[in-house]
Amino acid sequence: MSTSFGKPSSGIFITVEGGDGAGKSTQVKRLAEHLETLDMPLTITREPGGVGNAEKIRDFFLNHDGAPWESWTEAFLIAAARREHVAQLIRPKLMEGGIVLCDRFSDSTLAYQGYGRGLDRQLIKRLESIATTGLEPDLTAWLRVPVEVSLQRRHGEKEDRIEAEGRAFLHRVADGFAVLAEQRHWCQLDAQQSVSQLSQALEQTLRETLQ
Ligand code: TMP
Repeated sequence: MSTSFGKPSSGIFITVEGGDGAGKSTQVKRLAEHLETLDMPLTITREPGGVGNAEKIRDFFLNHDGAPWESWTEAFLIAAARREHVAQLIRPKLMEGGIVLCDRFSDSTLAYQGYGRGLDRQLIKRLESIATTGLEPDLTAWLRVPVEVSLQRRHGEKEDRIEAEGRAFLHRVADGFAVLAEQRHWCQLDAQQSVSQLSQALEQTLRETLQ
């Protein structure tokens, strides 16, 4: 099948990555409005979560306020949610020839649990290959914002368990995203632009990359 982007594929899997406070949710929403104009079924989803059981894990993962988890337990929870999400939603929608736009995916696990928590990244990749059954994005857009700017933006907002980890953790995550972006040739976008400049840049890059 040939899509409006001219890419022969049964479906297109797009992920958006970035640190907290990069404006990801707003951009995903705007990009979704743009993609809706294309003649392809569109699914907007997010991680952790996206389907019923995975959303339950998300809630547990982010809002758990009991004893802290061991870092691998955290990675297993995310992997369990992802496996469910890929099997129940992402793969079926791609097989139907649709566009799946996902707010975060397995690269977030490498950034947060790998670089942030310091878990062995090769082992994380093995865990991820089980969770994703080998599925990789066709395009990843990384919304790049300095940690200090994201902290200012989020000042006064309620933090989830991961966001509350502190500056040093967030810097390790941001450094991890930067390494991954280079290694994996992501589309990198400066998230300090205005909302509309950023969404225009995102749409433009999407067109160029998928043409
Ligand atoms: P969100 O705020 O972008 O929805 O993401 C939820 C939080 O979950 C965010 O602080 C990052 C964290 N997270 C991980 O630690 N590992 C992961 O693999 C994913 C997908 C999210």
